[in-house]
Amino acid sequence: KLPLSDKNNKALNPRYVYETYIVGSSNRFAHAASLSVADHPGGKFNPFFVHGGVGLGKTHLLHAIGHRALEIQPDLSVTYVSSEKFTNDLIKAIRAQGMEEFRARYRTIDLLMIDDIQFIAGKESTQEEFFHTFNALYQSGKQVVISSDKPPKAISALAERLRSRFEGGLIADVGLPDYEMRTAILRSKGEEMGIRLPDDVVEYVAQRDQSNIREVEGALNRILFLAQTSERRLSLDLAMEALTATATGPRRGQTSTREVLEAVVSHFAVSVKDVRGRGRTREIVLPRQVAMYVMREETAASLVEIGQALGDRDHTTVMHGIAKVERDLATDTSLRGHVMAVREALFTASGTR
Ligand SMILES: Nc1ncnc2c1ncn2[C@@H]1O[C@H](COP(=O)(O)OP(=O)(O)OP(=O)(O)O)[C@@H](O)[C@H]1O
Ligand SMILES: [Mg+2]
Repeated sequence: KLPLSDKNNKALNPRYVYETYIVGSSNRFAHAASLSVADHPGGKFNPFFVHGGVGLGKTHLLHAIGHRALEIQPDLSVTYVSSEKFTNDLIKAIRAQGMEEFRARYRTIDLLMIDDIQFIAGKESTQEEFFHTFNALYQSGKQVVISSDKPPKAISALAERLRSRFEGGLIADVGLPDYEMRTAILRSKGEEMGIRLPDDVVEYVAQRDQSNIREVEGALNRILFLAQTSERRLSLDLAMEALTATATGPRRGQTSTREVLEAVVSHFAVSVKDVRGRGRTREIVLPRQVAMYVMREETAASLVEIGQALGDRDHTTVMHGIAKVERDLATDTSLRGHVMAVREALFTASGTR
């Protein structure tokens, strides 16, 4: 006996609803189009094809469509499946000679959402069966929603006739979230968990993580985990500690901010007075930011203490400086050279003491 897909949709994740889906410039169109699909399944946007990179909210959006369509029409038969599950169901049906049941099940759905369609590319018989499922639904005016990591054109080994079916509907993409959207997502996740996140923590995480939404959530989870396990207050220092692997290294704490400052001024051939001063030329801002970064990495000083050591600067200024160095290190080899040289000077100095 084949497991029948739940008519009452236990397959929909209760967390993935529109209420928790943040809209920004990278997903505005996909969001608006999806709402129209949820409100009028089988209407003018059929099939609805949403694509985008890893962790950008495709699955969340599919589930949200399902929830909303059911809210409006509780009797609708709504099914969400991964392409993997569709394939497995098909294989089981073939083995158990249950194709009739398989077809009866998949062809009587009002709203079918199939996630990560790229996985059926190259699987001949799965594509074949999906093609027939698709046609049966489409011809009887039922809605099909598809997600993929790429647009139909870019999925190699996708049967041409499927590709052209997908292109006949509406295609929308979800892109990387910008800074504002990352901020909004963090605040919303905090609210969801009933935690008030300090502004500087939100700012730090949002400006640090350039990438996908799952990683932004992961960063927040690491911070909350550290706060919980160490029973410390949620602060910027704690956030930076949670997200910087080297911050708890063995050397940390043996070096003072004074020593770092000395190493920095001698490496860059600038004066302590300038580094601690208000000058904002590149010649002085770079050593200052490198000092912030190395102090953070190599000393036990808090952001406030680093700010004090560098001429009574605000701790958020220090945070911005460190975040900038962290970001630039990935691509800027000369910056890496500077940081390495300052570290070497520090350790040679302490080794000879
Ligand atoms: N716009 C958004 N607002 C709030 N949370 C979001 C948004 N987009 C994604 N998320 C959250 O980010 C996480 C990853 O989203 P999701 O699983 O939908 O991504 P995906 O595009 O399906 O990724 P994959 O390609 O890996 O399947 C989820 O926890 C989801 O709730
Ligand atoms: Mg997904």
